[in-house]
Amino acid sequence: MIRLGVIGYGRRAHGVINGPLRQVEPDIRVAAVVDPDKEGVSQRLAEIDRKDVQFYLSLEEMVRKANLDGIFIGTRCHLHAPLASQVARYDLPLFLEKPVAITMKQAISLEKAFENSRCQVVVSFPLRVSPLCQLAKDHINQGDLGKPVHVHAFNFVPYGTVYWEQPYRDYSITGGLFLQKATHDFDYLCYLMGSSIVRVGAMATFGQVFGGRKKAGLRCSECEQEATCLESPRNRARNLSGYHTNDHFCLYSVDCGNLETGTNEDCSSAVVEFVSGGHGVYSQVFFTRREAGARGAIISGYLGTLSFDWYRNELKVVHHHRPFTTVEKAAEALSHFGGDFELARDFIGLIKGKIKKSRTPIETGIQSAYICLAARESSLTGKFIKVRQVGSR
Ligand SMILES: NC(=O)c1ccc[n+]([C@@H]2O[C@H](COP(=O)([O-])OP(=O)(O)OC[C@H]3O[C@@H](n4cnc5c(N)ncnc54)[C@H](O)[C@@H]3O)[C@@H](O)[C@H]2O)c1
Repeated sequence: MIRLGVIGYGRRAHGVINGPLRQVEPDIRVAAVVDPDKEGVSQRLAEIDRKDVQFYLSLEEMVRKANLDGIFIGTRCHLHAPLASQVARYDLPLFLEKPVAITMKQAISLEKAFENSRCQVVVSFPLRVSPLCQLAKDHINQGDLGKPVHVHAFNFVPYGTVYWEQPYRDYSITGGLFLQKATHDFDYLCYLMGSSIVRVGAMATFGQVFGGRKKAGLRCSECEQEATCLESPRNRARNLSGYHTNDHFCLYSVDCGNLETGTNEDCSSAVVEFVSGGHGVYSQVFFTRREAGARGAIISGYLGTLSFDWYRNELKVVHHHRPFTTVEKAAEALSHFGGDFELARDFIGLIKGKIKKSRTPIETGIQSAYICLAARESSLTGKFIKVRQVGSR
C-alpha cells in the first residue's frame, strides 16, 4: 500500500488523488494531512481514507511520524515554494502544484533548496505530458517541421470568471495570471521548441472587463443588479454562458484588487525569444465563453507547420514542400486532456522505484516561474526583460 502525506487537501488535491492517482494505483491511502481546515478536509476525504488518516500540525512532524511513501502539496500558490523547500530535505517523491513560486525571492530560494536534494518532484504541468503535446513533440523530433523557428500560442479561457469570483482573485495569493495560467503554456512551449525562453516583452489589459467598485463580499443573491447582470446565475443559465450557475461573489467588486494593490488582468500577451534564436507570441484571454474556448499552438519551421488545440483534440501538420497535410484526431477528452493521468503515472512510478526521472522535474517549474515573473515585470514596466535561467548565478 502507498501511504501519502498531503499538505493542503483542497479541491485540486482531492481531485488528483481520487481521480488519476487512484486510477493508476488503487492501493493508495491518504495516511496523513497537514491542513488548518480539518473539517473541510474530513468532508472531502474519500470514504476509504477517513478511518485511518492522521492530522498533523507541521510538515516536519508528519514526515517524522507517518511513515510516508510520498508527499502531495496542494495548498494555494503562495505556499508552494516555502513548503516545497522544506520537503527538499527528505528523500521522498513530491507531487507539487503549480505555480511553484510567485515571487523572484521564492523562486531563487526554491532553486537553492533543491540544489543537492534527493527529492524527486512531479510538478503539476499536465499539458506538457498530455498525449496531444507528446504527439506534437514526436512530429517535431522526426523532423516534420525542420528546426522549429516560430510559435504562435493561444489560450482563450472559457472558465476565466474563476479569477474574479473565487479566491484566485486575491492577488497576494496568486500573483497574477501569467503565474497562475501561462506557467503551463510557457512550460510546454519550451518543451516543444526544445529551448528555454531568454527574453520577454509583455502587455496586460486591466479593468476593461472585470474588477470594479462594487462593495466587498457582495454576492449575486444580494445584488440589486442581479436581473440584468450577464454574470448572475439566472443570466448565465439563460445564455448558457456558464461555466457554473451557482450564487457567487461579484466579479466587479473591490475584492478583485486594483492596479496599486495588484489585480488579475482581463487578458495578456507576451513576445518571447528562445535560446535557439526562434521567437513566438502567446496570448491569454479570460472573458471568453462557450465555443470560443481554445488552447494550443501553431509551430512553424522551414519544412512544415504544426498546429493543435486541446479543446478540439486535433493536430494538423502541413508539409510545406510535399503535397500532403496530416490531420490526427485524439480520442475523447480526459482530465486535463489526459495530462493528469500521465502525471499520476510518473508520481506512482517514482514512489515504486519503477521510473528514475520525472518528466516534469522541479527545474521545469522553476524555469517556468522565472519566465512568468519576467512577463509580469515586463507587462508592468513596459520594458523587455531578460529571463533568469535555472542554474545561472
Ligand atoms: N495543475 C493544475 O492544472 C491545477 C488545476 C487547479 C488548481 N491548481 C492549483 O492547485 C492549488 C490549490 O487550488 P485549490 O482549488 O485546490 O484550492 P483550495 O483552496 O480548494 O485548497 C487549498 C487547501 O490548502 C489548505 N491550506 C491553507 N493554508 C494552509 C497551510 N498553511 N498549510 C496547509 N494547508 C493549508 C486549505 O485549507 C485548503 O484545504 C492552487 O495553487 C492552484 O493554482 C492547479
